[in-house]
Amino acid sequence: MRTVATVADMRRVRRSLSGTLGFIPTMGALHAGHLSLVERARTECATVVASIFVNPLQFGPNEDFERYPRTPDRDAQALARAGVDVLFAPQRAEMYPPGAQFSVVPGSLATYLEGDRRPGFFTGVATVVLKLFNIVTPDVAYFGQKDAQQLAVVTRMVRDLDVPVRVAACPTVREPDGLALSSRNAYLDDAQRAAAPHLHAALVQIAHALEGGQRDVCAAVAQAEAALPPLKMDYLAVVDPAVFEPLRTAPGKAALLAVGAAFAGSTRLIDNVEVQTP
Ligand code: PAF
Repeated sequence: MRTVATVADMRRVRRSLSGTLGFIPTMGALHAGHLSLVERARTECATVVASIFVNPLQFGPNEDFERYPRTPDRDAQALARAGVDVLFAPQRAEMYPPGAQFSVVPGSLATYLEGDRRPGFFTGVATVVLKLFNIVTPDVAYFGQKDAQQLAVVTRMVRDLDVPVRVAACPTVREPDGLALSSRNAYLDDAQRAAAPHLHAALVQIAHALEGGQRDVCAAVAQAEAALPPLKMDYLAVVDPAVFEPLRTAPGKAALLAVGAAFAGSTRLIDNVEVQTP
């Protein structure tokens, strides 16, 4: 695996590559979920590029940018073992030289739920992802479905801005007890880790209710809230996965998502479960 740190070197390496290029953007602290994206890219593409960049633009002033887990050596070894050909690992000044005047501001899709709780988050994500796409110029980019609203924002950005990249959605990887893998799970102490799967359980409960014919989303959410403690609820909602505006009533024969966020101590967990209404 070749590791490059500058935009110029990444572009130079890119010019030497032929065939389909698969790209996995990450913020490092890699787990089996990230490696499943690499595995999928390996089966579909001639060359696989991954990036590691903890993007300051997508962290709010009171969020965990400084504390975000950074494990660069372990990550590089894992990516090399998984068959990544090129790792792009720029420093902050390389991605954001002083004086930048432009960013990518998504529309209403990014104002609900995560966008409401984390102002500026999706502008940060869309801006860095578009920059990475412009630098790496992949054919296919792989994103996990765990970050469902991020996936929707990136998919819509690519469509609306005619970015020549196919966005591939990859299934969430879970622990045996249902907890979705996340780099932030490293923050959990034993009691919080034991409580963390309650978010998935609450979402599964909402999915069962709606798949069983219940149409009143508020009632389904209220019942599922009881499954959350000892976690502290941030939100539970049901959305059309392309729109993300919380629904009050579930339409029939629709592919929806039950989405949620909850706190285990100060660690914020997010997750989602697919819902197919009858
Ligand atoms: O999902 C992530 O790890 C990040 O939001 C991404 C897509 C790498 C952009 O910084």
